[in-house]
Amino acid sequence: MKILVIGSGGREHALVWKIAQSPMVEKIYCAPGNGGIEDIAQCLDIAADDINALLDFASREEIDLTVVGPEAPLAAGIVDVFESKGLKIFGPGKLASRLESSKVFAKNIMKKYNIPTAGFEEFTNLKSALKFVKDAERPLVIKADGLCAGKGVFVCVNLEEQEQAINSILKDKAFGDSGGRIIIEECLAGQEASIIVISDGDNVITMASSQDHKRVFDDDIGPNTGGMGAYSPAPVVTDEVLKYIQGKIIIPTIKGMKSEGTPFSGVLYTGVMITADGPKVLEFNVRFGDPETQVILPRLKSDLLELILKSVDKKLEGHTLVWDARACVCVVAASGGYPGKYEKGKLIKGLSDVDCAKEGIVFHAGTKKQGDEIITSGGRVLGVTSLGNDIKSAIDNTYAVLDKISFDSMFFRRDIGKKALGKVFSN
Ligand code: AMP
Ligand code: GLY
Repeated sequence: MKILVIGSGGREHALVWKIAQSPMVEKIYCAPGNGGIEDIAQCLDIAADDINALLDFASREEIDLTVVGPEAPLAAGIVDVFESKGLKIFGPGKLASRLESSKVFAKNIMKKYNIPTAGFEEFTNLKSALKFVKDAERPLVIKADGLCAGKGVFVCVNLEEQEQAINSILKDKAFGDSGGRIIIEECLAGQEASIIVISDGDNVITMASSQDHKRVFDDDIGPNTGGMGAYSPAPVVTDEVLKYIQGKIIIPTIKGMKSEGTPFSGVLYTGVMITADGPKVLEFNVRFGDPETQVILPRLKSDLLELILKSVDKKLEGHTLVWDARACVCVVAASGGYPGKYEKGKLIKGLSDVDCAKEGIVFHAGTKKQGDEIITSGGRVLGVTSLGNDIKSAIDNTYAVLDKISFDSMFFRRDIGKKALGKVFSN
C-alpha cells in the first residue's frame, strides 16, 4: 500500500515509524515531514494545511490511505474533501472535528449526554462575561472557543487574571475568530491523564494510557507548551478509572455523536482530570496527542496500519491489540526560549551515537536535514524515547540517551515521569 502521513512533528515521526513496520506498506510519503522522517519516508514540500495540494498529490500518486496528524486540516474538512473524491483517509469529518475545533460545541455535547466535565457558562458578550466573573467563586478557567494552538486556555486564580483573560480574548481579539466566544468553567483539581481511543463511528478500541507534561519547567512551573514529555502507562488510570472513563465518557460521546448525525471515526483523545468526584473531561482532541503518541506506539506490538484500516472500513468490532508490558518515557529537547521566541539552525550533535535498536528512539520534531547534518528548525526539537521494565528504568534509559545529544541552547525537563515513580500500573 502507498501511505501518506500529514504533519511534521514528533507525533508524525512516531506514526511514520510505526506504520513503516507493517508488512502491508510498499511506500510512505510525509507532507511536509522533518529531518528524521526523511530517513523512512519520502518527504513532500506541501504544507499540512494545503488541502488542495494534498488532494492533487494523493489523487495523482494513487495513495491508498492518508493519515492526518494535526488538527488544523481535520477542522478545515480534509476528510470530507478526500472522501468526496473516493480517497481513503483516517480521521473525523469537519462536523465531527468540532469536538476539538469548538469548545462550546464539545461542552454542549457533554451537557446533552451527561458526560462528566467541569460546570460552565458560554459568553459572546464582553460585559456579561465580566459581570459573571465579578460575582463568581474563584478560581475559574477561561477558554477561547476555537483552535488556538494550545494557547487559548487560562487557569485564573484571581479576579484580575480573569478580567485580563476575558479582555484579551473578547475585546483585544488575541485569537481572532477563534475567540469570538468563550467558555468560563469551574476549575478542577486532581491529576491529569490522556486516554486515546480509535473509533469507527460505533466501536471503540482503547490505546494505552499516558500522561503529558504541559508546563515548560520542572515541577509544572512556567507557561504551557505543546508538551515537554510524556510517559505510558499512567498509573493514575487504574483499571477501575479506565472502566469509568470508557463507560461514562467515551461510549456516551461516540453514541452521542452518532445520534447527532455526525458519527465520529478516527482518533478521539480525551484529556481527563481525575478529581475526588471521579474523572472529568478537560478537553477532547480529534487526533493523536503529541508527545503522547511517542510513548504509546513503542508499546504497541500490533500492526497500527491494520488498526487504522479497520477504523476507516468500519470493521473495528472484535479487534484487539497486544501491548508491551514495559513502560515508556519520552523527554522533549527544546530550543532555548521556547515556548516564546527561539533561534533555529543549530547543529544537533550526538544523534549517530545512539543505538536505536538497544537504547531508545529519537523522534524528530523541529529538525531539518542540511547535507549530512541535522539542524534545529522548531521549538520542540527532539523527543528522546526509551522503554524500561518499569517507569524508573524507562526514565533512566531516556535520560542516558539525552546525555549523548546536544545543540546550542538545548534544554529539557529533568522530572518527566517523576509523578509515576513508585506507583503500580496495570494498563
Ligand atoms: P485544554 O486545552 O482544555 O486541555 O486545557 C489546557 C490545560 O489547562 C489542561 O491540560 C489543564 O491543565 C488546564 N485546564 C483546562 N481546563 C481546566 C479545568 N476546568 N480545571 C483545571 N484545569 C484546567
Ligand atoms: N499533548 C497535548 C496535545 O497533543 O494536545
